[in-house]
Amino acid sequence: MKKSELEKLLEEMTLSEKVEQLVQLHGGFFGNIDIYTGPVVDFKMTPEQPYRTGSILGEHGAAHLKELQDKIMEKQSHHIPALFMADVIHGYKTAFPVPIAIGSSFNPELAEKITSAAAKEASAAGVHVAFSPMVDLVRDSRWGRCMESTGEDPWLNARMAESQVKGFQGENFGENGKMASCIKHFAAYGAVQSGRDYNVTELSEHTLFEDYLVSYRAAVKAGVSMVMTAFNTIDRKPCTTNKRLLRDILREDMGFDGVVISDYGAVSESITHGSSENHRDAAKKAMEAGCDIDMMSECYLQNLESLVNDGELSESLIDEAVMRILVLKNKLGLFENPYKDASEEDEKKYCFCDEHKKLSREAAEETIVLLKNDGLLPLNEKQKIAVVGSLADSSEITGSWALFVDKSQTVTMKNAIEELYPNADVTFIPFDEITEKMLSDVKTADVVILALGEDQSQTGESFSKADISLSKVHSELFNAVYDVNKNVITVLFGGRPLAVPELAKKTNSLIEAWLPGSCGCYALADILFGKVNPSGRLSMSMPYCVGQLPISYSAFSTGRPKPKMDGFCPYVSNYMDVPNVPLYPFGYGLSYSEVEYSAVSLDKNILSKNDKITASVTLENKSNIAVKEAVQLYIRDIKGSVVRPMRELKGLQKISLEAGEKRTVDFEITEAMLRFYDADMNYVSENGDFTLWIGHDSMTENCADFRLEK
Ligand code: GLC
Repeated sequence: MKKSELEKLLEEMTLSEKVEQLVQLHGGFFGNIDIYTGPVVDFKMTPEQPYRTGSILGEHGAAHLKELQDKIMEKQSHHIPALFMADVIHGYKTAFPVPIAIGSSFNPELAEKITSAAAKEASAAGVHVAFSPMVDLVRDSRWGRCMESTGEDPWLNARMAESQVKGFQGENFGENGKMASCIKHFAAYGAVQSGRDYNVTELSEHTLFEDYLVSYRAAVKAGVSMVMTAFNTIDRKPCTTNKRLLRDILREDMGFDGVVISDYGAVSESITHGSSENHRDAAKKAMEAGCDIDMMSECYLQNLESLVNDGELSESLIDEAVMRILVLKNKLGLFENPYKDASEEDEKKYCFCDEHKKLSREAAEETIVLLKNDGLLPLNEKQKIAVVGSLADSSEITGSWALFVDKSQTVTMKNAIEELYPNADVTFIPFDEITEKMLSDVKTADVVILALGEDQSQTGESFSKADISLSKVHSELFNAVYDVNKNVITVLFGGRPLAVPELAKKTNSLIEAWLPGSCGCYALADILFGKVNPSGRLSMSMPYCVGQLPISYSAFSTGRPKPKMDGFCPYVSNYMDVPNVPLYPFGYGLSYSEVEYSAVSLDKNILSKNDKITASVTLENKSNIAVKEAVQLYIRDIKGSVVRPMRELKGLQKISLEAGEKRTVDFEITEAMLRFYDADMNYVSENGDFTLWIGHDSMTENCADFRLEK
């Protein structure tokens, strides 16, 4: 449709029709629902009314959605097609590693391939919009949704966000195999107080803008189509009714002109937050704040029309919101083809196809993180190996948002080892109970692999934990095994960094496998047996204990920084009982090879406004196997008009080095990279001294100094 035709359509619509376009319901209102993604709610509607709403949540399947679209268009007086939206978070039928793992690949291009594959599957199943990527920065693993995030760093999250949006949308999401992307949850949902889901946040303006908004800004710049509001408050105002957040920051400052949708029931939740009087008040506040679609609440449906008719709400706000939705439908080509890519044939062709299974496996090769290896890895097929723990044969490892995945198709760690290494002498003991039989099998093994941590039921929405240590059962299992055999390799599954300091001291080797997806355990098996050289890097710090949370490498000096020393130091900023730094830091991960970094060299030490500094290091792969290395650039602004973090990730190059290969890697440093929000919230750089590091992880000491003189 042309814009003029959209405008004509809007003019012809009644106020009631317009309001119905601003409502999103799940399949339960259409007589069938196989997936709930929020509390069960019900509200008064005529049997026909659901078919007149503008968008549907969570429904999927080509045949089903074509039939549903026919009914909807038939019952719409202007036959306006509905939008079908679903949580395609890290895959549709093929589950890729969960986002915290995708972040650990330190490979934005991989992230783009993953969402491109997901879009191919989901669009063939008739879905138009993915509620993905979730771009919330997170530094507190008590929060169960850290599983959905690409981690603790603003810069890495921004690269991952823009890449994932591009994978979903391509250059034109109206094309076959592409879909609209909806980022979430705007904003700063990862900062919920005490890591408890749905809680309030208490953030300074600087922290909001410097840390939490960076990934959203990058996604908007990348052309994301929709933004979902968050459940939490910012500055004691629920995000969904927060006008400054949605209109001043998202639309004015960031330039977003797409559709804003509330999270599930979040419009009405402004009542339980205590900032709206009732559904009518909540509807008024949310519409004035700039929330276009009310997902799964009756506020808009039951109140917007009377608010306009009573002169309490301008119809122009309704018209703006409806037009944004009509424009999105038009960009998807729904007025010409209401089914878009829905095709039973393509569903069969793309869903869980060999190409996507292969990508799921290759992705896990880059997301699994080797944290410790005192020599037991890699294994060989002559060793007598015992694999212990229920997670070794669990298919609950695809993530709690793998809503559409057929779990029977998930490859477990046991399946993968048996299939890929049939000649290996492996005894599987896939349970967590400590028995004499188990201990005697373990005792006689050359090596024991323990599969511990959390399955997908332990992380995800609302699954917050105040204690992030290993479960009692798994701690006891580890100690019982370790007592009879010191040659232990521990594989941690899960969607959050756990606090495992005691285990990390004792285990010979430690692997963070995250929740590796449909075929990720093939990668795990290949890493265990050395066919794949691990290259994952932590996207989120692993703390010593929950008491360190929230934690990030990008910390501040404070007025009394702790000197470089072990143990407690009085009258400086430190703990009596644990270090300030995490057990394993952001960006950390080992390989089976050793990569040596040369000292950093700069082509100049003074940077002027329109110039650049080239910072170089030469890497050498000192081993006889190829390796993938995530070369990281960090920068520190030594003094600013506000305090500045001791280092911030500002560049990344993931390279492959053949055995013995030497390669020089260059980073260009520009004035723009040094900008921050100054004391008056102006986004500027300030003259002065800087230090940069180029190294293997966020603790690297490989540095050089330079000055900015604009
Ligand atoms: C849930 C989640 C959100 C999801 C939405 C729709 O409550 O917070 O991430 O997209 O509802 O399922």
